[in-house]
Amino acid sequence: MRVAVIGAGVIGLSTAQSIYEQYHSKVSPLTIEVYADCFTPLTTSDGAAGLWQPYLYDNGNIQETKWNKETFDYLLGWLSSPESVKMGIFLQSGYNLCTEPVPDPSFKDIVLGFRHLTEKELQMFPGFTYGWFNTALMVEGKSYLPWLMDWLQKRGVKFYNRKIASFKELSDAGADVIINCTGMRSGELQPDADLKPGRGQIVKVDAPWLKHWIITHNSEAGVYNSPYIIPGSRLVTVGGVFQVGNWSAQNNSTDHQQIWEKACQLEPSLKHAKIVEDWTGLRPVRSKVRLERETMWAGQSMIEVIHNYGHGGFGLTIHRGCAQEAAKLFGQIVEQKGKCPKAHL
Ligand code: FAD
Ligand code: BEZ
Repeated sequence: MRVAVIGAGVIGLSTAQSIYEQYHSKVSPLTIEVYADCFTPLTTSDGAAGLWQPYLYDNGNIQETKWNKETFDYLLGWLSSPESVKMGIFLQSGYNLCTEPVPDPSFKDIVLGFRHLTEKELQMFPGFTYGWFNTALMVEGKSYLPWLMDWLQKRGVKFYNRKIASFKELSDAGADVIINCTGMRSGELQPDADLKPGRGQIVKVDAPWLKHWIITHNSEAGVYNSPYIIPGSRLVTVGGVFQVGNWSAQNNSTDHQQIWEKACQLEPSLKHAKIVEDWTGLRPVRSKVRLERETMWAGQSMIEVIHNYGHGGFGLTIHRGCAQEAAKLFGQIVEQKGKCPKAHL
């Protein structure tokens, strides 16, 4: 059985890992190949802050909340291992700030120590009158992706640096199952009117005195550009913008200025921070994650594709739950192939 994963962001690599974990001892031989035209440190998953929180996408989707929880619990399970350092995983606490009372979020019972802010805490953030405090996890792509690649490489998974033009290309080359983890560029392989870029720009700064993340919530007329500050293992990520429909992957100086002004208003000590770099990425925004099997025909040959893309601003937050689900879908194909060995898979 030959599996071709397209995409080497957090979704592609973690899906390859889950397929290996669930099937390497059941399917023999099992060959897993990963095809991508960008690898770490150049994917969207590398630039992301890496905070576990379903940012701006707490829309009551029960399935996605379950995958978020599975990911949180999976990562939490690694924390007592020395591997967690190489993986870029650590606990981090912080504040969600609002300008009016809002319902509790879906992640209330997933994160650690969720509670409402006290008056004394709110006094630290002028202009905000409501909010929550909790401990969440950080999973930094710049460490996690190399760790995943290393894990896969040690188990015989092969990586190919190339752009894939069609699913047929891989099918013709002998792939039995194709896993589509192409994130924002999935539309190049199959049109998807529901997939839109949610452009984000962030500023990475050196400010080691900041130890808690701060996320503010305030959407004016559907435009999301409330500031956030997320300390990482080395640098602090300062954001952000969420521009739906904007395909520009370039840093924009007006956005930089606005992000910086708002963030300094929120946390005046940032004025003393050294700015290290700006970064822009496109969140693969969709009404819901596309995680499904599709059987397609190219002339006489049947192509089995499992789609796993459209994780918006929460790809690191949800990746493991989605990867495990994609592996289950792969198992269904394996089972059917076993039941019907003559089927051309
Ligand atoms: P990507 O990381 O973009 O990977 C896509 C892969 O597909 C790449 O390897 C690419 O080369 C490959 N590919 C695509 N098309 C082809 C093709 N035709 N042929 C070959 N290869 C192809 N999420 C969180 O959970 N927490 C955060 O703190 C967070 N912060 C963010 C901050 C910003 C500013 C942005 C923009 C996003 C943030 N996100 C965050 C969201 C997160 O980055 C994405 O959800 C996640 O990276 C999506 O992962 P992915 O693997 O689907 O896509
Ligand atoms: C973002 O997409 O910008 C983001 C995601 C999760 C936490 C904070 C920010």
